[in-house]
Parts: sequence; structure tokens; C-alpha cells
Amino acid sequence: MINANSIKKTLHYYFFNVGIIMNADETLLVFQKLAVDSQQSLDMDRHKILVGDAPNGKYFRTYNQREACDATGLSHRQIIKIIDELGIDSVDGRKFCIDINDIEKIRDYCSNYARNARGSEDKAIVIAVSNLKGGTGKTTVTTTFSTGLCSETDKKYKVLVIDLDPQGTASMYLKPNLSNDDFTVGDLLIGNYELDEKETFEDLAITSCYPTNTPDLFVMPIRPSDRNYEVLSKKRQNDAESKGEEFVVYQDLKNIIDSVSHAFDVIFLDTPPNFGALTISAHFVANSIIVPVLPSQNDRDSTSKYFDFLTEAYKVIQLLGHNGYESVNVLPTAVDIHSNAQTSIASKVRVASANNCFSVDFLESEAIKNCAEKQNTIFDQSASEYDATKQSLKNIQNSTRTLIYALEAQILQIWKKDRK
Ligand SMILES: Nc1ncnc2c1ncn2[C@@H]1O[C@H](COP(=O)(O)OP(=O)(O)OP(=O)(O)O)[C@@H](O)[C@H]1O
Ligand SMILES: [Mg+2]
Repeated sequence: MINANSIKKTLHYYFFNVGIIMNADETLLVFQKLAVDSQQSLDMDRHKILVGDAPNGKYFRTYNQREACDATGLSHRQIIKIIDELGIDSVDGRKFCIDINDIEKIRDYCSNYARNARGSEDKAIVIAVSNLKGGTGKTTVTTTFSTGLCSETDKKYKVLVIDLDPQGTASMYLKPNLSNDDFTVGDLLIGNYELDEKETFEDLAITSCYPTNTPDLFVMPIRPSDRNYEVLSKKRQNDAESKGEEFVVYQDLKNIIDSVSHAFDVIFLDTPPNFGALTISAHFVANSIIVPVLPSQNDRDSTSKYFDFLTEAYKVIQLLGHNGYESVNVLPTAVDIHSNAQTSIASKVRVASANNCFSVDFLESEAIKNCAEKQNTIFDQSASEYDATKQSLKNIQNSTRTLIYALEAQILQIWKKDRK
């Protein structure tokens, strides 16, 4: 059996007795060692994260008194009075400390109107976060925007993230305690389930949306083996074509969206950096897209090619009956405001994408990277809980909050327009 120790021993023998020229078997051993080591290191990190009180194994965000006042718009005196009226326990040791669930209770209590923004007739907003280029910030935008929409706005949004990238990065952020027994989007797409008596596919789809450490934010996770869906989809297409039958590539994902969209106001789709059944399906089922673009010349070039692809792909999607996107947002991402080259490229991207950009960019921040190491977004923790420079977290939270409000304004606009 291969384990880390046997691989280590064999490698040690080869390096010190045979020299470092490797044959194919030795090369394979190196790769196996890399795989075992990196998985062990990931598992160790995950164990450190999975000690929290939230359903996904993380901690609920906590707030000190100043942060609680900022989050609710109340003064120090008002918040103490309301906490008393609601019977919330606000003392941790000798310090004021409440968590995000308490913040939600206070927001509900203080609201003079229903906090739900979506009317019964309004359709769910399905946003594909997409760019075929890897590493442009798709997952960071998906997780940060979905968390921010739930934690930073006065209104209440029920939000679902469907992770369509088998790399599973968004799932690691939102459901690090994913177990083998949990259902994934791949199980639903592939048909890897048996329904109980009286259970419908809709029931199963809803139970496959797991709660996170942010109230009202849910995730339908993915695991690496769900990559098989791409192969299965190709096979289904070939089978259908050989029988002269029609094949609808997006139907499996559409079934999932149709089953869950009554329960969520906004659904984010995190997409993989390649073109396959999952990506094309995401583009079909979405009614809005966000395209994160890095402010480098190479990334501009590849994003421009992605728009060529999108133009061609959309012609097909249109023929399949798509009704058009409500909004297309090109979003310069990880923009370093101290770099002239980056701000200049970001502004060229915005000029070229006039009317299809948010009013602000998603700025580069060390705090985003620090939080990412613990599989957190910048809205998963308050500055009082943050180990590194607190001001850097506050700064990026403030600038990103402006983006969240811009997204919220678009969502409200879409619902308002559809009601006319
Ligand atoms: N605004 C930002 N500031 C600093 N770092 C960022 C920012 N946005 C993203 N990053 C970092 O850039 C890297 C790539 O981001 P991310 O994983 O979100 O990209 P992606 O497009 O989802 O990648 P892939 O194509 O592999 O799915 C990550 O290490 C992330 O922490
Ligand atoms: Mg990603």
C-alpha cells in the first residue's frame, strides 16, 4: 500500500544511492509524494478551521460594540437597550461580544418594514461569475459578494452559491466540513442518488443546499470526482446524436435551478476556467453575468478572447431560447491602487466596457489573501477578530461594501423593471 512513509523511504534511497536522475517509476513516486504531502497539509489546515459553532464547522462572525453599532446603524445606548429587550447575551468574559445571528435579530427587530426585498412574483437572480482565464478572482468574487450580500445589507437576501468548478475552492470556503455522505451538485447532475419514497428531485435539490456560517447564505458544493459529469455529458450527447435525438446540454443544471430558485433570491454560479458542459450550462441558466478581469496586459488579451468566445457561444445559447442577460458586469479585480500601470489598465477596461461595469473596482488587498489562508472572505470576520493589521481589513471591507451596494442596486432595479 502506498503511504507517505513508504514513498519517503523510496525517494530517500533513490536520491542518496542512485542519484537524482529519475526514471518513469521514480518520477511517478515524486508526483505521488507531492499529492500525499499537499493533501496532508490541507487536511491539517482544515482540522484547525473545523472547530467552530456554525453548521459548516466554521465560527460565526462576532462583533464588538463599535462594530455592532456600525452594522445596525444604532448608537451605543440604543444597542444596549435593544439587546436587553431581546434577551441577547452580549458579554463574553468582560467584553461586549455578539455574533452575526444576534445582528440579524437586531436588524429584524429595528426594521419598520419587511426586510425581504424580493416580491412573490420576482424571479431569482442567477449570476454566473465567469472568465475562461484561470486565477482572475472568480471564486473570490463569488464568495465575497455572496457573503457580503447577506451580512452587509439592511435588506434580507437568501443567497445560494452553486460551485460548478470541480477544483472546489468555493466549497472549501463555504462548506469545509463536506463529508462523503453529503450530496453535491455533481451527484444531482450525474443522477448519483436514489429518492426515498415520496421524496422528489426538488426535495433532494433543496436538502443539497447546506447552511454556512453566514445567516441566509447556503452552498451547493462540488467534489473533484464531479468532474466526471463532463465525460458523462459528452457521452450522453454522442448517444443522443447517434440515435438522431436532440441533446440539451444545459438541461441537468436547469433542472437544479428550477428546483431551488423559489427558495433563493440570488444564486451565484462559480464557474471553472475552462470550456465544457458546466460552463456552457452556467451561461445558459444565468440571467446575469460578472466577468472578473485582472489589470494586466496578458489578462486583458485573454479576456478579449473570452468575449469573442462569449459572442459565438451566446449565438448558440440564443438559438436554444435564452432571453438575454439582465446585466453584464466586467469587474476589474485585485486592482492595486498604488500601481499606475494597474489603475490605467483597469480604467481602459472600464472605458471599453462602458455601461457594463460597476462604479468601483474590486481592489487588491493583503487582507483578502490573509483571510483566504483560513478559507475566509473579508466579511467572515470583524476587524476585532482579525490577527493582522486591523485597518487593512477595515479598508477593504469599506471599499468592497460599495461594490455590494452597487450589486444590490442592480438586483433591486431588475425586480422593479420586471414588475412594470
Ligand atoms: N482583490 C484581491 N486582492 C488580493 N488577492 C486576491 C484578490 N482577488 C483574488 N485574489 C487572490 O488571487 C488568487 C486567485 O483568485 P481566485 O481563486 O478567486 O481566482 P479564480 O478565477 O477563481 O481561479 P480559478 O480560475 O483557478 O478558479 C487567490 O489566491 C486569491 O486569494
Ligand atoms: Mg475559482
